Parts: sequence; C-alpha cells; structure tokens
Amino acid sequence: MYSIVIDGRDESFPCSADDSLLRGGLRAGLGLPYECSTGSCGTCKFDLLDGETENLWPDSPGLSERDLRKDRRLACQNRPLGDCTIKMRIDPAAIPQILPRQNLVRFVESRELTHDMREFRFEAESKAEFLPGQYALFTLPGVTGLRAYSMANLSNDTGAWNFHIKNMPGGAGSHALFDGVVAPGQMVEMDGPYGLAFLRE
Ligand code: FES
Repeated sequence: MYSIVIDGRDESFPCSADDSLLRGGLRAGLGLPYECSTGSCGTCKFDLLDGETENLWPDSPGLSERDLRKDRRLACQNRPLGDCTIKMRIDPAAIPQILPRQNLVRFVESRELTHDMREFRFEAESKAEFLPGQYALFTLPGVTGLRAYSMANLSNDTGAWNFHIKNMPGGAGSHALFDGVVAPGQMVEMDGPYGLAFLRE
C-alpha cells in the first residue's frame, strides 16, 4: 500500500499498487472529482509533483494535446508505483455517500429484454449498497480495461446486483457477456458503487 499526499492539503490516502489513484481516494472517502471512471471525461485530471505512476491508457480521450504537453494525468487511469504527491482539486460534492469496494460476484443468469438488451443478474455475499443512478466497474475475461454498467435494481440485503445492458456490436464487453464467455455460476470482479448522478435531498 502506498501513501498518496494531496499537495496543499493536510490530507493523504492509502492506495494499493493495483488500484487507480481515483479509486484509492474514493475508497478513503475523499471527494476526488470524477464522472466516468474510464478515461473518457477528463474530470479527474491531476499533476504529479513527486513519485511515479503507471498510465494504464496513454491514449485515453480524457486528455487533450495541451494536457499531454503539460504532463497532466488522469487519476482513473494511473496507478501508483510508490508513494506520490499529487496536485488535484477536491470537490465536496464528490465525497462518496457509500464507499466503493472491490467485490467478487457470481453471475447468476440473464434474460432478454429487447432484441439487443438483456438483464444480467449478479450476486454478492454481502448486501448490495448503492444509490439509484450509480454504476459498477467490471473486470471481464478477455476485456482490456474496465466496463461501467449502471445498476437497474435497488439497494438490497440479499446481495443482488442487476444490470440492463445493450449489446454493442463488436464490443469486447458485449462479447464477454452476450456470447457466453461469462457463464452462469462464474465469479467476476466488480468494483463499486461509483457515480454522482443521483438525486440529492
Ligand atoms: S473520471 Fe472520467 S476520465 Fe477519469
């Protein structure tokens, strides 16, 4: 576990070598700004002031040419290679109401919803806690990177995580789920909940 210090703040958080800086910070309850978690939106930019990180997706669309020239990085696409000091703004609105966790979940079954959409049902050993509108990140066999899918059910004590997923022709995630690469009974890695698009009181 490495220590990540946020410059200018009296704050640091632990981050494991196989976690992204964004997910490590959110797991620690910090309000690191983000939206997609998958390298597309650019919301999670940071400057590396000290230490080393590995960029998991150097061509991610979340960084502009200008960002690359300035050596800016995406917290959702960088994992620490040691203790680091970063410069990143903190957004109180991004403080997780439910801390995201890594889970091993069992694929139970899927059922057809429309000609190109299916409901996929997964089961965890602990209760399923998330807010309506949030999503989870999946590590799927044969797929590079993470796939984000929104939950279609409500928080529950039985550990049920359900997703309505569209079959994207040629998509690696779709192939894994729709073509039986992930079989009923198989365990897959799921990380969540993430996302800030939920109703605030
Ligand atoms: S959260 Fe969107 S690029 Fe990192």
